[in-house]
Amino acid sequence: MAEGDWQQVEPGARVVRQAVFVVEQAVAPALEWDAIDARATHVLISDIDAAPCATGRLFADTEPGVMRIGRLAVLKHLRGRGLGDAVLVRLLKRAAEQGGTRAVLHAQTHAVGFYLRRGFTASGAEFIEDGIPHVRMSRRLPA
Ligand SMILES: CC(C)(COP(=O)(O)OP(=O)(O)OC[C@H]1O[C@@H](n2cnc3c(N)ncnc32)[C@H](O)[C@@H]1OP(=O)(O)O)[C@@H](O)C(=O)NCCC(=O)NCCS
Repeated sequence: MAEGDWQQVEPGARVVRQAVFVVEQAVAPALEWDAIDARATHVLISDIDAAPCATGRLFADTEPGVMRIGRLAVLKHLRGRGLGDAVLVRLLKRAAEQGGTRAVLHAQTHAVGFYLRRGFTASGAEFIEDGIPHVRMSRRLPA
């Protein structure tokens, strides 16, 4: 598992996010590739042949102590093997290491159960982002 800035993970993270968000979920490329990538910390899981499999990112919110997790994706044929969970756990650890007290994210509604397992709770009404229904979720981070 690699962790680093956008320059370090871009080739692999692009492959995963292009396949999952742009192709599978039909998110517009102009929305998928935003300026946040350049300042986020990224996690990338690749297989033994260095083929990219799963990714996610983390960045500081404007609210002090709040870390925002996003762009969590696993290639379709590799889901259900713990890769998404491994990315999430690593992002949570990093969020705490970076001094965060709270992690927040916009969960696609189909993935709410995935985040509930790792201590997130949902709040507020469902909303549409990039054409996909989402719900706000958050959890405290260990000191
Ligand atoms: C959501 C996603 C990242 C999950 O990744 P994954 O590698 O398939 O998940 P894991 O195998 O690590 O699952 C870990 C646990 O969460 C559960 N889980 C996985 N997806 C779930 C879902 N959508 N709802 C409820 N539980 C889920 C698994 O059953 C597993 O539980 P178990 O350990 O008790 O068996 C993946 O489905 C994905 O990339 N989806 C498309 C992109 C997307 O929607 N990203 C989320 C944006 S908010």
